[in-house]
Amino acid sequence: MAVRKVLKYGEKTLREPSREVHKVSRKILDLIQDLLDTMYAQNGVGLAAPQIGVNYRVFVIDVSTGSEPLNPLVFINPKIIKKSGAVISQEGCLSFPEAFTDVKRYKNVTVKALDAKGKPFVMEATDGSLLARAIQHENDHLDGILFIDHCANRFDADKILAEHNLPPIDPDRLIDDEMLEKELQND
Ligand code: NI
Repeated sequence: MAVRKVLKYGEKTLREPSREVHKVSRKILDLIQDLLDTMYAQNGVGLAAPQIGVNYRVFVIDVSTGSEPLNPLVFINPKIIKKSGAVISQEGCLSFPEAFTDVKRYKNVTVKALDAKGKPFVMEATDGSLLARAIQHENDHLDGILFIDHCANRFDADKILAEHNLPPIDPDRLIDDEMLEKELQND
């Protein structure tokens, strides 16, 4: 299909909640193909529909590396049904070119979603793996939540954003997840 323009932090669409998909129509299949084409063109690990300006609950992930065959994963109407453990590690986002900062995430997540054929599946990602973090990161995009909202240190994150000419942290958006904080203390 097509490589689409990736919206940058500061654009309104990134903060808007996305709608459920009711039918995996031609339009949704085209959207999935555009997401994959755009993600691969940008060497990204994941991409969510709002990042290309479409507020539908769809994202794609591919955590394959180097010489491994491509392994595109498609998530439609995803729901994280289980989460545990906590980890702080560096993350970036195609909507924040070259800006990376430490974020707080769950170590293990279980997600339920539909695949590109509209078939339900459940996937577990553990050990703070790239997949576990990507699922949380992309799922957040569908609710207008961005990785910087989970930053481990607001001042470090702001510094990095400023260095990349991106708008600053919005303090009202910072997420205080009690369960995650507890998990971090236990770790
Ligand atoms: Ni992102």
